[in-house]
Amino acid sequence: MAFVLDGTQPYPFPVLRYFPAMPVASDNPVTVEGVELGRMLFHDPILSADSSRSCASCHQQRYAFSDGPLRYSKATDGSELPRHTPALFNLAWYPAFFWDGRAETLEEQVLHPVRDPMELGAGWPMALQRIRTAERYAAPFKRAFGDQAMDSVLVARAIAQYLRSLISANSKYDRVLRGEDLFTADEYAGFVLANEQNKGDCLQCHITDQHALGTAMRFSNNGLDPPDPSDRFTDPGRYAITGSEKDLGAFKIPSLRNVALTAPYMHDGRFSSLEEVVEFYSNAVHASAYTDPRMSTARRGGAHLNDREQRQLIAFLHTLTDSSFVVDPKHGDPF
Ligand code: HEC
Ligand code: HEC
Repeated sequence: MAFVLDGTQPYPFPVLRYFPAMPVASDNPVTVEGVELGRMLFHDPILSADSSRSCASCHQQRYAFSDGPLRYSKATDGSELPRHTPALFNLAWYPAFFWDGRAETLEEQVLHPVRDPMELGAGWPMALQRIRTAERYAAPFKRAFGDQAMDSVLVARAIAQYLRSLISANSKYDRVLRGEDLFTADEYAGFVLANEQNKGDCLQCHITDQHALGTAMRFSNNGLDPPDPSDRFTDPGRYAITGSEKDLGAFKIPSLRNVALTAPYMHDGRFSSLEEVVEFYSNAVHASAYTDPRMSTARRGGAHLNDREQRQLIAFLHTLTDSSFVVDPKHGDPF
């Protein structure tokens, strides 16, 4: 624990008994001071080449830190990014980041957007030069990291700490799990459909009964596409990282939490509503050589939920909306 500094306070994470234990990044303990510095950096256009945008330009709090209705966020030159911008919350539990899992830690993930000419594009030397000379960072940096010299590692640590502090656990679903609220009849029917193995069978990948993260935190090909004639998917997904055939067209399984706030859906934002998503899982799942065997409904083309069941499943998905998370000032723009 070389980096715990005198005078810093451990960040007060909520106690969530129905979540798995939160993995601890032992080389970057989360402190109140580090989160505060990371929050400033996340919202500050200082990290972009032309000082026009910040992380929060694409990851907006009111859309659970996704990019709202945009199918693809705009790059600095106005073109479109190749993948849909994911929501950010409960990241402290994930073993890998990006749709294809190419970053293994949040600290590593954070280094990407500053370099990426399409995202922020300043590059680290320019970004550091600016932060070092910006007066507003001198005191917060010292509070978080003492007299250590400011470098990209510490900046990435601060932003990673802020990202770990983004806990979303206050939806109606959470209140029901804590015994403080009750599902309506339709919401409960939807919860059962999601977890029933010969019905929706969502639980193999989006866990909502054994623990409450809404994802199994794996990579999976959920049968969105038939393989193209050359047997390669347009976006090979996880395959590009592992080179393993079984990962063709596999992507990080997103959490179902806050889905009602984060349309459009999937790595390419192809579905614009939850109705379209549920219609896909009901009637349009492709069974290819690469479809995850856990996608048990693929063999019959989908779960074949009727209209009423689809409505009930959607009613359940709406209970996963945490409306306090998206307005909580402790996560918001500090400027
Ligand atoms: C121009 C829009 C844009 C900007 C600016 C941006 N991001 Fe992203 N972010 C994305 C996209 C798109 C992805 C998904 C890319 C992929 O998976 O290939 C992503 C992915 C992520 C992920 C991975 C989430 C997950 O579930 O795996 C994290 C964390 C993240 N961004 C944090 C940041 C931080 C921190 C910054 C600022 C330093 C930032 N982003 C700036 C668009 C953006
Ligand atoms: C075999 C694993 C698997 C099963 C079973 C599964 N999903 Fe998914 N789900 C995924 C993967 C993987 C993605 C992301 C795919 C992509 O982006 O290409 C996804 C994406 C989603 C999304 C979009 C989330 C977002 O933020 O874009 C929703 C909503 C969703 N699934 C709901 C469901 C529902 C409801 C069921 C049950 C009817 C279900 N899933 C069953 C693996 C699965």
